[in-house]
Amino acid sequence: PQRPILIQGPMPIEAEKFAERLENVKVEEAGSTFEFYIGTVEGYPVIVTKTGKGMANTGAATALAIEKYNPAAIINQGTSGGHDPALNVFDIVLGERSVNIGALKTGDLAKGEGIEPTEWKPMDLMASEGSAGEDPDAENIRYYEGDKELLAAANAVKDTHTKGKVVEGTIGSADFWNNEVDRINWIHEKYGTSVEEMETASAAQISAAYDIPFLGIRILSNNKTNDGAYNPDTAAANQDYVFEVVKEYISSL
Ligand code: 5AD
Repeated sequence: PQRPILIQGPMPIEAEKFAERLENVKVEEAGSTFEFYIGTVEGYPVIVTKTGKGMANTGAATALAIEKYNPAAIINQGTSGGHDPALNVFDIVLGERSVNIGALKTGDLAKGEGIEPTEWKPMDLMASEGSAGEDPDAENIRYYEGDKELLAAANAVKDTHTKGKVVEGTIGSADFWNNEVDRINWIHEKYGTSVEEMETASAAQISAAYDIPFLGIRILSNNKTNDGAYNPDTAAANQDYVFEVVKEYISSL
């Protein structure tokens, strides 16, 4: 049998619009958080997962989906907050790479010496099997690359997205919602992030562990750096675009 394409969305508004488009749908659940809508698009197997929000839910949902359904490729999609002032609400970032921006090691400060977030160093938990706190190689930013064929399919249907532009960029993920513009700028400069959200890098990490082609596709629902106000309608617009990407990718297989 053909291996399915897996599409992930964290919140109901980020998964259901896509799931509605599947044909021959059967729903499976796991735990109280994960829902798998198993169906087809133009006769090809496609599974939509509602993962729940955040890194732990997404990592677990990714491993579970890989073990249960053996997908040929995984797309993690949903909303995000802009780190780049050139990007506006409704623009879409294709994750040419993604990075965990919540993995940090603090400086060495004694009682009474305070808290210095701008001195915190990126920490790479995958650098070795030893202690990340002691290993100098762990003071490293680990990027996960988006799959080239998925990127090519996404670029080929760029023009179908008319509410904003589609660009390649860096998706930063952590269980963190940053509203401090100076902190956003610090992350943007250190990691080169285009947007932040709470899922892509965890799905990328698990997909890489199983060697499965992966791409994050994130629409800006807000951007603190240019006063772009939150708009929940972006979630549906992103699913419209990702649906075009999936059809294009299937036709290239
Ligand atoms: N910061 C963090 N997460 C964001 N999300 C949208 N915008 C942002 C932002 N500025 C997404 C996350 C998560 C949910 C809270 O919305 O990916 O699923």
